[in-house]
Amino acid sequence: MSALPPIADITVRPCPLCANSRHQLTVLNGSEHPYSRKGNFSTINRRNRLPMLRGSLLARLVVVSNRVSVPGEGSTRAGGLEVALRPALQKNGGVWLGWSGKVAPAGKLETRFIRYKNIEYVITDLSKGDFEEYYSGFANRVLWPILHYRLDLAEFARRDLSGYFRVNNHFAAEVEKIIERDDLIWVHDYHLMPIADALRRRGHSNRIGFFLHVPLPPPEILTSLPNHEQLIPLLMQYDVVGFQTDGDVQNFVRYLISEFDQMRKTRMFESAGRHVTLKVNGQETLIGSFPVGIEPRTFARLARHNEQSPLVRDLVASLGGRNLVIGVDRLDYSKGLIQRLDAFDVFLANHSEWLGKLTYLQITPTNRAEIPEYSELQEALESAAGRINGKYGEVSWTPIRYVNRVYSRSVLAGLYRMARVGLVTPLRDGMNLVAKEYVAAQSPDDPGVLILSRFTGAAIKLRSALLVNPYDAESVASALAQALAMPLEERRARHKALHAEVCEYDVNQWQGEFLSALRAASGSETYQSHASIGERPTPDTIGARIAPSAGVQN
Ligand code: F6P
Repeated sequence: MSALPPIADITVRPCPLCANSRHQLTVLNGSEHPYSRKGNFSTINRRNRLPMLRGSLLARLVVVSNRVSVPGEGSTRAGGLEVALRPALQKNGGVWLGWSGKVAPAGKLETRFIRYKNIEYVITDLSKGDFEEYYSGFANRVLWPILHYRLDLAEFARRDLSGYFRVNNHFAAEVEKIIERDDLIWVHDYHLMPIADALRRRGHSNRIGFFLHVPLPPPEILTSLPNHEQLIPLLMQYDVVGFQTDGDVQNFVRYLISEFDQMRKTRMFESAGRHVTLKVNGQETLIGSFPVGIEPRTFARLARHNEQSPLVRDLVASLGGRNLVIGVDRLDYSKGLIQRLDAFDVFLANHSEWLGKLTYLQITPTNRAEIPEYSELQEALESAAGRINGKYGEVSWTPIRYVNRVYSRSVLAGLYRMARVGLVTPLRDGMNLVAKEYVAAQSPDDPGVLILSRFTGAAIKLRSALLVNPYDAESVASALAQALAMPLEERRARHKALHAEVCEYDVNQWQGEFLSALRAASGSETYQSHASIGERPTPDTIGARIAPSAGVQN
């Protein structure tokens, strides 16, 4: 067996094929020089093929994700995935298939069809067992912590892995009922990694893409995922696999090389810009970074309209002229909320000149309450906020307002606009769209300051924010003092640079680039079983071990 190839063996240099300076050539291990392999330059091939694909450029889009943002049904819930997918689907039209958000008794499970404007929604219920094993279990107690580098919080149960594959099979069966041969299928996030494999085994050769909204850790962490060799390689059944950052792409490529190149089955032969094409066992997959964005102009309009809304005016009146510092995060340990409150404590201790002169509003809708780590975090946050308020507060001043309510995006937009500082300090985050929304919401004449964790995907481009290490309370506290004292000229200059970045890679660019890559893919000719790769368990053996639950009809 060959050793794990060091990351240093992946070299990147400007692409000699085109003028675009963002395109680069990546060579792995020196041996697979792309230009020594005639006819395998898929960028050129893909470009040449495009005119012939005229019909399929108009192919219907079928989006598959666990959460679906159905208009009128919980549309105030606005996770990053829904915020990004809604405009992408509104622009392209198509089908959006996923979980209805309902847990129904076995025998009463339904799949409903809703049509609204140019989108058809297909939403399917989960049984209690499915919800526990697939959503609360494998997706959120195993995959979520490991993908966010929190090995210490992962809780593995074999039953949950079975439930995960069972629900993925159910989703694949629902997809199968509605797809036609030319449909483009775009699957989202860690809940649904095996969908392409399940569809390929059912004989579908559609072009299928996958986008991971959360980070992908390096192989040294990813391989701590129990049964990773049964799950992660299934991503190679997709034609396109997209990540948020180049770092995530490198982590995935390193993982594949360490898992497959040992059997000399990996062929990396082409790279352009942030994209790499890998061939494993005859199956070709384009892997790239497609950083997700927002609709900055629409969000700015929302912020302008809502700065005068009754709720925002009430808040401003209640501040009594004090500066507003805002944090908006789903209740999650990945968001670094305990560390943020500690940093605020340090700030108040070190900067007594600000006592009584600012209010920190932390909006944290509760989430995944059935998972113990989340309810424990909720208690810890309540007690930390209470402790800090007790320590520094006055009868006429409360330093922290901690609220668990869900506010609509329009209200949040208005609140961001009024906040002098936006505190976005996750310990790890795929992208973080709150950071981008905070920037978009600011008035260019008198903008607030973004304090941003360097461990978010957003920090790669948003270099003009005050970048902080969220584990280092002193550094976050100093950044807060710097932000509050920042002169107008510097605030304007930083905001201008940030705003340009947010506008350059917006949600249209994200979906446009991903879908172009998917349209250019040739689709799968046949199902490529991983059985031929080596001795390890194969997808087929997983399928054989898993009996469908009563709650899922497939
Ligand atoms: O970050 C990826 C994401 O899918 C977000 O869109 C969402 O906020 C979260 O993960 C999932 O949350 P939930 O478990 O409530 O669907």
